[in-house]
Amino acid sequence: MTKGIFITGTDTGVGKTFVAEGLIKAVREKGLNVCPMKPVETGCRLRQGRLIPADTLRLIRASGVDEEIDLINPYRFNQPLAPSVAAEIEGMKINRKRIFSAYDRLSKKYDITIVEGAGGVMAPVFKKYLFLDLINDLKLPLVIVSRPGLGTINHTLLTIDAVKNKGLHILGVIINYSVNIKKGLTEKTNPEVIEKLGGSPVLGIVPYLRNPSDGRVQKILERIAAKILPVS
Ligand SMILES: Nc1ncnc2c1ncn2[C@@H]1O[C@H](COP(=O)(O)OP(=O)(O)OP(=O)(O)O)[C@@H](O)[C@H]1O
Ligand SMILES: [Mg+2]
Repeated sequence: MTKGIFITGTDTGVGKTFVAEGLIKAVREKGLNVCPMKPVETGCRLRQGRLIPADTLRLIRASGVDEEIDLINPYRFNQPLAPSVAAEIEGMKINRKRIFSAYDRLSKKYDITIVEGAGGVMAPVFKKYLFLDLINDLKLPLVIVSRPGLGTINHTLLTIDAVKNKGLHILGVIINYSVNIKKGLTEKTNPEVIEKLGGSPVLGIVPYLRNPSDGRVQKILERIAAKILPVS
């Protein structure tokens, strides 16, 4: 069992934050202190001269922690681009040390730290330093959030392959219905194919439900949390 996990996805918008919120709530239910982290958030809206990191705020709300926002989210940018690109356009430099010292402070204080990436594992954080490198340096095991429908076998297996080539530890895949699609033959057969060809377990399938606090989502995420986090 691990003290921290890194939540990545096969793509942007697959439900990393939704799943992270649910896992955070499941862990809190068990009486553990859990802290989220979103090292870099892009696509933040500008309100009265300040950038609003929506994912970070959702994660903070789910966890109930009272920490400086700059520790939980050291970098935020306005442009909805990969971190390295957004930083360059906005004239900022992303410093690996700042992310590490924030993670270090938080992870020492909490039972569990749940870190959400941006985009997928090959998204660049700065220069040629990818999320794969960040996950490797943070020494965190991974959860991959995938889409349920057509194309997900390819995206999920590519992600698993990249992660395994880097020598990272995958806890498993969560298939998440971030949109309300009908469950056809593709959706029914994909989990088994991913497990067989990817060699990583499908930890659970999260249906489309508007509210991450919905009891049905919570039950599923509690079961997933019990498999991968010290929450029994
Ligand atoms: N299981 C679900 N049921 C209903 N809505 C969902 C579900 N999963 C995700 N969503 C919704 O889909 C949208 C995208 O999800 P989310 O923001 O979690 O994706 P993400 O992978 O974190 O995206 P990003 O790459 O921007 O961080 C959000 O509006 C979210 O509330
Ligand atoms: Mg997100």
